[in-house]
Amino acid sequence: MARRVRKAIFPVAGLGTRFLPATKVMAKEMLPIVDKPLIQYAVEEAAAAGIEYFIFVTGRGKSILVDHFDHAPELEMLLGRRGKEQELESLFEAMPDPGKVFSVRQQVPLGLGHAVWCAREFIGEEPFAVLLPDELLMSDVPGLKQLMNVHADVGGNLISITEVLPEHTNRYGILNVETDDGKVAKAMGMIEKPSLEDAPSRLANIGRYVLDPAIFTHLDKHLTGSGGEIQLTDAIDATTDSLPFHGVRFDGERFDCGDKIGFITANIAFALKRPEMSDQVRAAVAKLIA
Ligand code: UTP
Repeated sequence: MARRVRKAIFPVAGLGTRFLPATKVMAKEMLPIVDKPLIQYAVEEAAAAGIEYFIFVTGRGKSILVDHFDHAPELEMLLGRRGKEQELESLFEAMPDPGKVFSVRQQVPLGLGHAVWCAREFIGEEPFAVLLPDELLMSDVPGLKQLMNVHADVGGNLISITEVLPEHTNRYGILNVETDDGKVAKAMGMIEKPSLEDAPSRLANIGRYVLDPAIFTHLDKHLTGSGGEIQLTDAIDATTDSLPFHGVRFDGERFDCGDKIGFITANIAFALKRPEMSDQVRAAVAKLIA
């Protein structure tokens, strides 16, 4: 049985260029889905999976992401004075306990692998999770929990996967599959953003990882890969000789909110799940389409 996963890294230092100008001064991970920022969904998912320690890899202008999980005394006082109990409560929904939130700086966004490497001292020698907040998951069992359940049995490195269209392999890390039982795929490696011709499968990484600290040995080398960035995919790929590597099919709906269409779709999907607005949203969408 593998060691329990207690720590999660949230890399949030990227530039969010696909969402400019919205992300000129605001972090992409603060974009709201209905009324909660993407980062809050990711933190809630991790907490629901049993994560105890949360570390944000931030950059310049990204401090609000950490502030979102802190008290806002003036606002809290005003809401209290005005009797806005529900609104007040919503501020505390996702606040981890004191001493459980950490942040570290990635001074230059050199790539996801580099962002994760920036959190190495926090991780130490235990397995850890990575959640990309712009990948939003909707499921009965939290996405990360689905991965952690398999990790408990097989250990090593794991990623959540889903099957993508052949013409979309160049957007994702794609799994090189050894065996596949339809739920869990044992992998020989992974390639970042391969063209259709070079893609070893159509099983794509959807931004949830459980990783062994051995990957830091590779990340220490600061090698650049696809797009001139230091890729987490390459570090995982480089450790497949010494560690088991599995892809776990995600059971649920997944929205790529780093992409405009995915973001808009997620807003509609999550609004339709909210009892207090579902009917109105359904009617509004139907009217627009008609
Ligand atoms: P993305 O590649 O989706 O984010 O990285 P991006 O670079 O911000 O967005 P685009 O492609 O320019 O629109 C996935 C996650 O990894 C983080 C991002 O903040 C995002 O949450 N990231 C990426 C870092 O923290 N540091 C990096 O150097 C790169």
